[in-house]
Amino acid sequence: MTLQSIDPATGEVVWEGAADNAEAVGAALAKARAAFPAWGALPVAERVAYAEAFRGALEARKERLAETIARETGKPRWETLTEVAAMIGKVGISIKAQAERAGERRQDMPFGEAVLRHRPHGVMAVLGPFNFPGHLPNGHIVPALLAGNTVVFKPSEMTPATGAAMAECWAEAGLPDGVFNLVQGARETGEALVAGEIDGLLFTGSAGAGAHFRRIFADRPEVILALELGGNNPLIAWDGDVEETASIVVQSSFVTTGQRCSCARRLIVPDTVWGRDLTDAIDALARRIVIGKWDDEPQPYIGPLISDAAAASAKARVDDLVARGAKPTREFKILDCMSPAFVRPTVLDVTGIDVPDEEIFAPVVQVSRVADFDAAVASANATRFGLSAGLVSADDALWDRFVLESRAGVVNRNRPTTGAAGSMPFGGLGESGNHRPSAYYAADYCAYPVASFEAANADGNSGAIAAMLKA
Ligand code: NAD
Ligand code: SIN
Repeated sequence: MTLQSIDPATGEVVWEGAADNAEAVGAALAKARAAFPAWGALPVAERVAYAEAFRGALEARKERLAETIARETGKPRWETLTEVAAMIGKVGISIKAQAERAGERRQDMPFGEAVLRHRPHGVMAVLGPFNFPGHLPNGHIVPALLAGNTVVFKPSEMTPATGAAMAECWAEAGLPDGVFNLVQGARETGEALVAGEIDGLLFTGSAGAGAHFRRIFADRPEVILALELGGNNPLIAWDGDVEETASIVVQSSFVTTGQRCSCARRLIVPDTVWGRDLTDAIDALARRIVIGKWDDEPQPYIGPLISDAAAASAKARVDDLVARGAKPTREFKILDCMSPAFVRPTVLDVTGIDVPDEEIFAPVVQVSRVADFDAAVASANATRFGLSAGLVSADDALWDRFVLESRAGVVNRNRPTTGAAGSMPFGGLGESGNHRPSAYYAADYCAYPVASFEAANADGNSGAIAAMLKA
């Protein structure tokens, strides 16, 4: 079967190649299995050197890689350059995290030493999403390889060229054969990978696929499963300068055309004059957002959605909300420009309406007006997800309460809900994950700890038991 990726702004084919079938996936897994013993036995310093060479390869082609990501996803060049910078930065962060969280510790004991070591799991399957097709799988792959695992990576079917470019960088780093393996394809290829002989599945993607993996791995507890999933993230905007607050909301809800897992999907405001002023300011700011093609100059703030189909699906979701009684203050529209993947940032008032607790992966924010802060916190937590949450308020007492009561893995104050940092853990509660956060904590799921009590010889053991026996 042939796989193509398409520039969503123009409909041009960016990449074309064969999708890997089950046999090809099996061959990649066999190579990864064969390479594992030698790779896992290397001193960590040697694996660090390979990772640093990979970083060099990324640096050498950062503009080209940023262009590839931009053409496959439609994201503006300014944003894909920051994505490649995050990939480069990830190497140093992962080396530090590996040493801190999964290194070796020794402690003197009366008989010798207590030693903590970490060992790799084996062959890791990595499935990547389309929205950060370089940065997010890279955040699994680098820590997994550093820990001594081998990897079989399937990028999103929407972004195969980005995956191929990453494989080129690892090849240029001189990695031994079979340590990093790329397979290309859509769900069937992913299914073959997941059904194969793997020791771990490191997945970033939708909650639906994550729930499916939880079920199919229930009978394979020996396979480590790390799930980084979506959310229906709340942002409470409570007080402060209206323009500054509107800017936090716009950055939270509309950056990357709403295609970040951390985007604020639900805005909760007081049912007051301040709350109404705020939504007016958000509408006014949203109107000024520049939308365009990845290489337009001056650069747009956002590009299209990932595909025409994604735009049609977002429209169906908004139509459903409107049918349930949501009132658009800024209507959803498929924009009549380069392609039907371009949509307009949308604001819907859903106060008092029963709406589905689902992620809409598009620039759509649902506003609820509430009577008091108790109702705001209750509304924020009324979700089966728990990825990111935010509070805009200068009131320390409200923040102290929110940070304790908020059920999410990222809880921000007077900052956008987006912009996760590689130097911090990043993961979610409920349907947003499975308590295996990524980013800085990826080192934890890439290796298992082994505790050893070690004496240089067996002397001293018989004396101890003899004393007990006499007694
Ligand atoms: P997706 O779940 O459709 O696909 C992700 C990857 O999994 C792709 O490679 C896909 O081919 C593969 N896949 C999907 N279903 C599969 C199955 N049944 N068997 C095997 N492989 C399968 O996700 P997407 O649309 O590419 O990405 C967007 C989603 O990812 C959003 O829901 C977003 O919130 C989430 N996301 C989460 C994080 C996080 O860190 N928590 C970060 C980015 C994106
Ligand atoms: C994402 O992983 O989708 C977004 C991370 C971020 O908040 O930047």
